[in-house]
Amino acid sequence: MKGFVPTPEATVDAMVERLFRKSPPRRGSRLLDPGCGHGAFIEGVFRWCRRHGAPRPEIAGIEMDPGKIREAKRSFRGESGLESFDYIVGNPPYVAIEKLSEDERARYRRLFNTARGRLDLYLLFWERALGLLRPGGRLVFITPEKFAYVETARPLREILSQFQVEEIFFAPENTFPGLTTYPTVTTVGNRMPSKATVIETRNGERKSVRLPQGGGSWQPIIHGAVELRGGRTLEDLALRVSCGVATGADGMFVLAATKLPSELQRLSYPTLAGRELRLGRVLPEPCWRMLMPYDQDGRLLPENRLAALGEYLARPEVRKRLEARTCVQRKPWYAFHETPCLKEILRPKLLCKDVTLEPFFWIDRRGDIIPRHSVYYVVPHATDLLEPLAEFLNSAEARSWLRSHCQRAANGFLRVQSSVLKKLPVPDDLGVLVKSRPVAV
Ligand SMILES: C[S@@+](CC[C@H](N)C(=O)[O-])C[C@H]1O[C@@H](n2cnc3c(N)ncnc32)[C@H](O)[C@@H]1O
Repeated sequence: MKGFVPTPEATVDAMVERLFRKSPPRRGSRLLDPGCGHGAFIEGVFRWCRRHGAPRPEIAGIEMDPGKIREAKRSFRGESGLESFDYIVGNPPYVAIEKLSEDERARYRRLFNTARGRLDLYLLFWERALGLLRPGGRLVFITPEKFAYVETARPLREILSQFQVEEIFFAPENTFPGLTTYPTVTTVGNRMPSKATVIETRNGERKSVRLPQGGGSWQPIIHGAVELRGGRTLEDLALRVSCGVATGADGMFVLAATKLPSELQRLSYPTLAGRELRLGRVLPEPCWRMLMPYDQDGRLLPENRLAALGEYLARPEVRKRLEARTCVQRKPWYAFHETPCLKEILRPKLLCKDVTLEPFFWIDRRGDIIPRHSVYYVVPHATDLLEPLAEFLNSAEARSWLRSHCQRAANGFLRVQSSVLKKLPVPDDLGVLVKSRPVAV
């Protein structure tokens, strides 16, 4: 069974209210509940019709789990074909690409425009549902909020720009008991967009916005971003903007500096994880070191050149752990999960936590720190840029831009991503410095 998360009754009722309040069902209206489970929304539709003395629409429920379909059939009897619908309401399954088989991925990529990049099943449900909505019909879906801004959902936003998105309600984080999700209830009418979209944010603010046409992110418009002007973006000033090194087994490759045997010093570098970077504190002196089976150009050393590191890695308990990583099916057993670009990492750079309450950038002046996977790093084209870039990135305006463009994580935290960092507009006067002295390696 994929992605079963039952929708609480209060949320179902609030969604059905949005579905019918402007145009109640008439005799013969048709309603679709895709991924109906055992029928939470069908019950909700019946409740609404009873309360308002309205006729029940004909309902088609689609479900892949045979057990749930049996339950739904027992409760509601009857079936309906898949034509087009006046109403569509539901909580489609959220199933990330990793949980789909190779066959499913290939089939979905063939059949759906929205099956791009790191697809998720709910995006495909959106596409199919919008295709089944009659002109003038209305759809209400509860889904993760990410479709409004992630790059993977660009094709869905392109499709949605041909519809009137009437309302986006950012539902509370605890809507599904026991799960932290960022759900949105989106109401869409099948007509060309002519009106603004009503937004209700999690802090209760209500406003009307014009969503952008095309597939661009809705985030800046929804959250009222500061529009930074400037012809260049961070990507133009940087040699590299990237997430830190993923070894796939930090427990084996990262050792406390105080416990590191002297013979392993030579093939190790100081390293910092996101949790060691504390807002309001200076860059800490690293107390951990990462063992590095790569040369300074980022080439994996042959086993016979690993010397003492080779002996350590070949210890049965270490080797067993390294060989258990799926990545080594395609590479030598002691390689990192991702090849580290040491040529660029080992330079003066800026460091930032991946999940943070406030984006903040620290300067690694010596350039010898290896950022772990929970740290992002920005290597500017010129050392002269380190200070002014840090000053700009830590300014209120850059922070506000990042806050409105980054994904949200739990409890008000932000998730920084290199795709977002790269697009941060930088002031023109910073760009001038690129032409100055190159970074010393
Ligand atoms: C998030 S649950 C919602 C269940 C129910 N509508 C509710 O709100 O309580 C999504 C449902 O979609 C079903 N599902 C997953 N993949 C499906 C598919 N490819 N076709 C139809 N249903 C699917 C799951 O079995 C699950 O019951």
